[in-house]
Amino acid sequence: MATSVPPVATECLAADAAGIARAASFLKAGRLVAFPTETVYGLGGDATQGAAVAAIYAAKGRPQFNPLISHVADFTAARKLGQFNALACRLADAFWPGPLTLVVPRAPDCPVSELASAGLDSIAIRIPAHPVALDLLRTVGCPLAAPSANPSGGVSPTTAAHVLGDLDGVIAAVIDGGATVVGLESTVVSCLEDRPRLLRPGGTSRRAIEEVLGMALDTPDEADSTAPHSPGQLASHYAPHASLRMNATTIVPGEAVLLFGRERPAGLERAAMVMNLSETGDLIEAAANLFSHLRRIDATRPGAIAVAPVPDHDLGEAINDRLRRAAAPR
Ligand code: TXA
Ligand code: MG
Repeated sequence: MATSVPPVATECLAADAAGIARAASFLKAGRLVAFPTETVYGLGGDATQGAAVAAIYAAKGRPQFNPLISHVADFTAARKLGQFNALACRLADAFWPGPLTLVVPRAPDCPVSELASAGLDSIAIRIPAHPVALDLLRTVGCPLAAPSANPSGGVSPTTAAHVLGDLDGVIAAVIDGGATVVGLESTVVSCLEDRPRLLRPGGTSRRAIEEVLGMALDTPDEADSTAPHSPGQLASHYAPHASLRMNATTIVPGEAVLLFGRERPAGLERAAMVMNLSETGDLIEAAANLFSHLRRIDATRPGAIAVAPVPDHDLGEAINDRLRRAAAPR
């Protein structure tokens, strides 16, 4: 991620056909474009390209890989990403396009990068109610992963000027669609259990949702007083079946090994299986590969997984955070 190339100024694109076409070509090339939605400006990247998703986390300076929302233009596109039960369909029907995000099981052939859903079996999906966002989604033709377009811990941007104030030189472009109308993020509802659960209050009121459902929404706090308060945190620990150890410099015979870069731990020839997060030591590539590599290794049911040292700077901090959780005793 460290680069000697000086940052290029972020383009501010008009919300017309030419601006949207240029934004779409940046996105297809794996670059990042901020765009207006009815809630806040999103920091968009092609959700199917792991490296683009990793670049989103890098641009936000996120200390952790929180799962991201995949934005689509219509329900047909949504169904390719996730599985909608009857209640999820009812909510989608009532509130989409609009400031509601639904967390549903990933579809079997879901093309979205595992990194975007932080290695979970579920995915957050939303159809935004903004003509520019919808136009962009139709033009680019792929789901866009998009958290709010501000550095982690900062205030969500509601104008293109806010976005440029925070991310000028960091992303390829921002589409200027004026001030957003809702001004706060979408409501996040999980449809993974029998009773839908409110994960994050936002632009669609609880009351409106409960009216459509004809039942009260569950909330993490009611369901489990020990649940973490920060939304998403709750379910975001991907843990392999096999035990995992970090910073491995010597391999125990029979271990499956996850390498980083060109360093080779002693005893590697006795490994049951070897994969590399990034042969060239690129932390963005490593982040993009993290969850899918862990899943592929875990699927071979190794006795244990040994992970070579990953540097702790830039996205390495988030990679090591996830590895530490996966390594924690269960
Ligand atoms: O209004 C919005 O929702 C904006 C605009 C750009 O669409 N986007 C946004 O994204 O706020 P972000 O990444 O800041 O928030 C996504 C929320 C987080 O609270 C995250 O934990 C939750 O959705 N989330 C995403 N995937 C999830 C999953 N599989 N399970 C549980 N929570 C999930
Ligand atoms: Mg945010």
